Amino acid sequence: MKGLILSGGKGTRLRPLTHTSAKQLVPVANKPILFYVIENIVKAGITEIGIIISPETGDEVRRAVGGGERWGVKVEYILQERPSGLAHAVKTARPFLGDSPFVMYLGDNLIGGDITELINSFQKNRPDAVILLKPVDNPSSFGVAEIDKDGNIVRLVEKPKEPKSNLALVGVYLFSTEIHKAIDEIKPSLRGELEITDAIQRLVEKGKKVHSHLLEAWWLDTGKKDDLLAANTVVLDEVVKREIKGEVDANSDISGRVRIGKGAKVIHSTIRGPVVIGENCRIENSFVGPYSSIGDNSVIINSALEHCVLMEGCEVNMIDRLEDSLLGRGAKVIKNTKKHHAHRLSIGDDSVVEF
Ligand code: G1P
Repeated sequence: MKGLILSGGKGTRLRPLTHTSAKQLVPVANKPILFYVIENIVKAGITEIGIIISPETGDEVRRAVGGGERWGVKVEYILQERPSGLAHAVKTARPFLGDSPFVMYLGDNLIGGDITELINSFQKNRPDAVILLKPVDNPSSFGVAEIDKDGNIVRLVEKPKEPKSNLALVGVYLFSTEIHKAIDEIKPSLRGELEITDAIQRLVEKGKKVHSHLLEAWWLDTGKKDDLLAANTVVLDEVVKREIKGEVDANSDISGRVRIGKGAKVIHSTIRGPVVIGENCRIENSFVGPYSSIGDNSVIINSALEHCVLMEGCEVNMIDRLEDSLLGRGAKVIKNTKKHHAHRLSIGDDSVVEF
């Protein structure tokens, strides 16, 4: 069994961060989403992983993941020249996949729990595809499955305007080599992409064995800012244990599950978990409230924030208070005390500022 991770695409819904960075590398609890995906595949015993990359963000993904040594696996990169759909990505990966069955995992999908049992049952029962389904409030934004009362798949439709159910296709799929034939038999969708949903629908039409499995654990598609903050909340809740490597002075109060990286300094501040603070951060005269992730080398001075994700090297100074915010690398939010009362901005394309 091989692993195929999709880490291309444009990430338009996460702009402005994705103007300069791959959406799969955006951090959740200070760890890139893509690393959770790799860890989940590795945990299931898969040692050969192919990662689909795009010309725009491929180098950044390579630099972050390397050859897979960190996880004791072999990672190969497969360049998809154009974002022509998930089924097109599988087509591009065919030389890597060979005759092996595989798990395809979208690099921006986070799921609770692991996929080991799913893979074990796939290997025992040998279907041609296993899809994961999860009820959602907005099925039109996903691939949607229509199933009969016995749980058999009747039809799969990509982003239907009038969805026949609320069961969305989660971005984790298991396939036999039959999927390649099905992909050769489909045409691009209205959005001009070769859809994996259409290829699986083709398997259903051909009478192949397509099993579905209802995902009990949580699933987060980290496509947008609010999704990302939600993912950060869930992951902080689940994974953060109290671990303090940095320095905390006697005038500070740390409560709950808080992780503070080495070289970080907390001075005269209150930190209320769950919170992660990266390495070499400086938190001074400030309050960092629940569900915040502070990237390495960030500085927070005379400020209060809560439910925020700060990437590396951010600065928040004299701000009371910042909530539900996402700051890209090196971003600064500073109160200007010297000049007259004006807002002075230097922000990237597609940024949003709410006063
Ligand atoms: C893709 C799939 C869709 C699936 C979703 C899960 O959508 O096409 O069927 O439900 O991932 O994240 P996309 O992210 O390309 O819009």
